Amino acid sequence: MEIYKHPLYYEIAFSFFDVKKQIDTFDLIIKQFSKIRVRRFLDVACGPSLQLREIGRRGYEAVGLDQSSEMLRYLSEKGKEEGIRIETVQADMCDFKLEKKADFAFIMMGSLVVESNEKFLNHLDSVACSLKRGGLYFIQNKIVNWTDCREQSWDMERDGIKVKTTYTCTSCKDVLNQIYTEKGVLEVNDHGEIIKLSTEEDLKLIFPQEFKALVSLNGKFEFIGWWEGTESTWYLDKPLEKAKSLSNINMVLLRRK
Ligand SMILES: C[S@@+](CC[C@H](N)C(=O)[O-])C[C@H]1O[C@@H](n2cnc3c(N)ncnc32)[C@H](O)[C@@H]1O
Repeated sequence: MEIYKHPLYYEIAFSFFDVKKQIDTFDLIIKQFSKIRVRRFLDVACGPSLQLREIGRRGYEAVGLDQSSEMLRYLSEKGKEEGIRIETVQADMCDFKLEKKADFAFIMMGSLVVESNEKFLNHLDSVACSLKRGGLYFIQNKIVNWTDCREQSWDMERDGIKVKTTYTCTSCKDVLNQIYTEKGVLEVNDHGEIIKLSTEEDLKLIFPQEFKALVSLNGKFEFIGWWEGTESTWYLDKPLEKAKSLSNINMVLLRRK
């Protein structure tokens, strides 16, 4: 996909969070819910992963998995620039197995989207094979409010590069199979050079209760809970069950059985 072939522009567009706060929250979650000590982190669909770069700086092992070679190359180079070793794995998130299992896995920015229930179960199998028993799988921004299909648009700027990002989704393209189309556009102004990058993908909406049922059917994870959050942090005292209005900025936590 075009957007993922341009890691720098992607990173500028999507770096609107405080990565230190995110990793501090991981620490809190690990203290409260992990049954194992955590040394090795896996970022699934990692992209340019500001998170792994922060994790590496804190002295942990960092592994990034993505299917885009451009993203992985960029991430390795960033690691080298900062003197941090980041392992990279090029694979499909629905079909992978790490040689050395991780202690904590995470997927950020609503990247856990697949085209069918079968693929979702394959994804859970892959994470399960690559995560130690008792380890956590942290999912950021699961679509729970499936009634909210508003356009999202924002502007970011770094080192003279301006990026306007717009995301839209069709209400429902295929009702029986719960398929919607997501479109994303990055309008880049790189020191006067204008570049337009776009992406379009058909995805399956997994309803919240269907998500829980599929996790249970897969059988390899305990559903620990889901909570409200912001871009940078999450609130363990605010479970979604008690939320007055649901947003798609949230966290879902599974633990490997
Ligand atoms: C929305 S970006 C998220 C990147 C990063 N985790 C972040 O938080 O900014 C989605 C990433 O998932 C990757 N991706 C998409 N489909 C994938 C798949 N089936 N397997 C592995 N990676 C995938 C893309 O290459 C892209 O880097």
